[in-house]
Amino acid sequence: MENAIVTKNLSKSFLSDVALDDINLALKKGAIIALLGADGAGKTTLLRLVAGLLCATKGEIVTLELNPKNDSDKEKILNQIGYMPQKFGLYEDLTVEENLNLYSKLKRNSANYANFDKLLEFTTLKPFKKRLAQDLSGGMKQKLGLACALLGEPKLLILDEPSVGVDPLSRLELLDLVRKTISKNTTVIWSSSYLDEAFNFDICVILDKGKVIFDGRTKDLGQNYEVFENKVIELMGGYKEKESLVAKNYHLIEHNERCCVLADNLSKNFNGFWAVKNNSFCIKKGEIFGLLGPNGAGKSTTFKMMCALLKPTSGKGFIMGVDVEKQPHKARQYLGYMAQKFSLYSRLSLLDNLEFFSGIYGLFGKNKKEKIERMIKVFELEQYKDEMTSLLPLGYKQRLSLACALIHEPPVLFLDEPTSGVDAIQRREFWNHIKALADIGVSVLVTTHFMDEAKFCDNISLFYNGEIIALDTPNNLIKQANAKDMNEAFIKMINLKKAQK
Ligand SMILES: Nc1ncnc2c1ncn2[C@@H]1O[C@H](COP(=O)(O)OP(=O)(O)OP(=O)(O)O)[C@@H](O)[C@H]1O
Ligand SMILES: [Mg+2]
Repeated sequence: MENAIVTKNLSKSFLSDVALDDINLALKKGAIIALLGADGAGKTTLLRLVAGLLCATKGEIVTLELNPKNDSDKEKILNQIGYMPQKFGLYEDLTVEENLNLYSKLKRNSANYANFDKLLEFTTLKPFKKRLAQDLSGGMKQKLGLACALLGEPKLLILDEPSVGVDPLSRLELLDLVRKTISKNTTVIWSSSYLDEAFNFDICVILDKGKVIFDGRTKDLGQNYEVFENKVIELMGGYKEKESLVAKNYHLIEHNERCCVLADNLSKNFNGFWAVKNNSFCIKKGEIFGLLGPNGAGKSTTFKMMCALLKPTSGKGFIMGVDVEKQPHKARQYLGYMAQKFSLYSRLSLLDNLEFFSGIYGLFGKNKKEKIERMIKVFELEQYKDEMTSLLPLGYKQRLSLACALIHEPPVLFLDEPTSGVDAIQRREFWNHIKALADIGVSVLVTTHFMDEAKFCDNISLFYNGEIIALDTPNNLIKQANAKDMNEAFIKMINLKKAQK
């Protein structure tokens, strides 16, 4: 048989919610399949059904010619697949090496130790073998999770958003590694919110509200990338730019600060390792400043020092002229911060989170009530007001995070990978707000691994190994690298630095 996965009238409901509705697929062995769709479209549910981790409500599914409903088959399936769930469970208190060892043993595949070096090499984690997982950067953790899933020689590799937060160069290497590691008969099903990545795959399946809206050759959606991207967005419901109510209703304090954000030779050393070296920049009123760089470059460490969550080894940070280390409370009054991992309280309701964050920022009484109501209105959060935050769709979690960061109407906004894992349409909506906020004078420090977002920045600091390697406008960086777009400029410039080392 030549199909790795076959589904017939497959449906899955959770209580009254229909997650998948009448799915009919026949996915060829040996193909690399992109699974696309907006948040909540049903991608993770489908992958779990394929892996036999969930049972269908109706219909049939055949995985590697086996029936996941059947207990003895389920065991056989699990032995033949490599599965990387969306929230991969690394052991934070074990080192990189210990995590790999543990997963290798769980797979009963000790013959695979030879693979370790290759995997460590690719993930660039080799120098950090002895580092605890909890001390890795966001993208480094993601890569370690992927390395664990690639252990063994799976016949079917199921990857649920493996490249969230992984930098552009590593994403290329990741695809290359998957292609090289797998044999001809290995099938890969890979869900992703990076459309540029999906464009490289053989087959594309797009889900929307639990239904298959496209199933066919990727190239049939468009021979060149832009056509492909537009087509996918159109299939997913399309996006029309509209006025940002968030910016329209924003009261920005009047000020004449020249550098709203100022980093003056910031450096951070962790136990002898320099995570950030002499980072300096000035962000003007209404400027969007992008801090880009590979995983582990020191971006989040810079953010943390700039909002007084981490003490610099040397150097200083100022927000609206206030020394963040000397007067952290005062500095934070001027700042809205979206951390790399959502820092919302997951067991509180949406409304409770808004209440909590407005309290932290010193709002109270009528003013607080009004600001919370305004945030609910401008971010269209009404229908989920009383929902527990952990149960919100990702796009709503992201909107709520931004609402919490903006509730006190700060003149400065810090965004550490605000769109990681978010679908293409919601990313456009998010940036619509950010651009409009900058237009009215809010200064923004942002980091992202989506290079199509980099073009919204006025200036970009390219960061590598804790140091600035280039600082200019996106267009100038593209020219300087002699590249066709920011993605290529990033890859070329980082590769050049790597070669010089
Ligand atoms: N508490 C810590 N102890 C030791 N090392 C740390 C600690 N925090 C961060 N590091 C190291 O500092 C370096 C920079 O990490 P940082 O989180 O700033 O990277 P990043 O640029 O934000 O990467 P990503 O794109 O993956 O989010 C990494 O090598 C990381 O492992
Ligand atoms: Mg980071």
